[in-house]
Amino acid sequence: MTNSGDWSALMPVLPGAGPRSKALYSAIRGLIESGAVPGGAKLPTTRDLARRFGLSRAAAIAAFESLIGEGFAEARVGAGTFVARAVPRLPRQKASAAPPDPAAPSALPLTVGVTASDPRTARLFRQLMSRHLARPAPALFQYGDPRGSIGLREAIAAYLRAARGVRCEARQIVITSGAQQGLDLLIRAIIRPGDPVWAENPCYPMAHTALKGAGAKVIPVPVDDEGLDVAEGEKRAPHARAAYVTPSHQFPLGVTMTMRRRLALIDWARRNDAWIIEDDYDSEFRYGGPPLTALQGMDGAGRVAYVGTFSKILFPGLRTGYLVAPEKLLDGILAVRARSDRFPPLITEAPLADLIAQGHFAAHLRRVRRRVQANRDMLVAALKDHAKGRLEFAVPDQGLHMIARTSHADTQLAAAAKDAGIGARALSPMYIGGKPSQGLVLGFSAFAPDVIRDAAIRLCALL
Ligand SMILES: Cc1ncc(COP(=O)(O)O)c(C=O)c1O
Repeated sequence: MTNSGDWSALMPVLPGAGPRSKALYSAIRGLIESGAVPGGAKLPTTRDLARRFGLSRAAAIAAFESLIGEGFAEARVGAGTFVARAVPRLPRQKASAAPPDPAAPSALPLTVGVTASDPRTARLFRQLMSRHLARPAPALFQYGDPRGSIGLREAIAAYLRAARGVRCEARQIVITSGAQQGLDLLIRAIIRPGDPVWAENPCYPMAHTALKGAGAKVIPVPVDDEGLDVAEGEKRAPHARAAYVTPSHQFPLGVTMTMRRRLALIDWARRNDAWIIEDDYDSEFRYGGPPLTALQGMDGAGRVAYVGTFSKILFPGLRTGYLVAPEKLLDGILAVRARSDRFPPLITEAPLADLIAQGHFAAHLRRVRRRVQANRDMLVAALKDHAKGRLEFAVPDQGLHMIARTSHADTQLAAAAKDAGIGARALSPMYIGGKPSQGLVLGFSAFAPDVIRDAAIRLCALL
């Protein structure tokens, strides 16, 4: 394969239909894997290949990028592209196999918390990952920093400063296994058994569980249409050690905390040396304007610990989230981290850092946000047409779920929905005291629009 004659003889005829770059990639990969072309052999130029096989130059370049990304070939500056000396053994996919839809098998339509999959980002992530695996940094095989790799922390810090108004440096960022580990680390670093802690009522169940697990005395604080009622919290437990809040988009009610309440909450924390745990789980999904500044960015006193996650915007299986630690809490958090799992897995950090730093993440966000907004519109339209006033709801301008209030017992309605193959979740069990409201929590982030519409119509038939 070191000259055109050999190359032409070896190459199979490319199929006439289908993506040309994929066909070229498969043909060259087949030759390399079969050993027909030895490691170290020089590949023809993309210009040469494009001319010979009647492809566009872009298609030939894309094929080379995939081969390089997956470790079959290497580019040497000024010299050309060569077959890799050590060729990876990767499982072959059947060319005809449809790409799997990660959301499809396990979740019923309208289930809250299921993330929209994006094939383009999945492909990019795979390429970035194979690039790092093909030429791994030695540090990948060693023990790492308890906060995670500096590359990913820098990428996240830059993103949070620009997109969320968070005041942070990479040294304060701790990479976690999703938001849940971020919450757990913070709770264990801050709270001693018996400490009173404010929790929004209704509350994100997994945060409530983590608080109770740490022995906190959970103080339910009502949420109204301004968010957590700070004055009521002060009445119930003025000297609480911490407050758990979802100010950008309260889970589950979907309320955004008003400026007045935000300032009051920060002021309370400052006066009482209390901590605010801000869970900013889905703020990337704002449809009516730019994302709101995080509470953390408004706090000049260093009392807010910020938690975020890639579970909603990328996918939960990545198990990657982060927390931004106030300076005074950093050492305590790292001590808890060290004795629980030492440090986060390094293998996914480098491709994720590339995804963010190279601008793919921002493009992904724009793409997915548009898609989820269309899903929301579909759900709202179907409920308006078919619920005939029997569900009461506001159109959410943010997030991945909505609340539909009902006069029915919501647990019974959710059970009937489940029997009908619909994943609506009851609101009332998320209350941690007082008289719960009845409603359904409906997720619209994953699933095709027609699946959402069909599920909504069938849900309305149950009312
Ligand atoms: C309020 C809230 N916080 C955090 C999370 C994310 O959790 P994780 O990143 O651990 O998947 C969710 C997911 O449903 C959530 O609803």
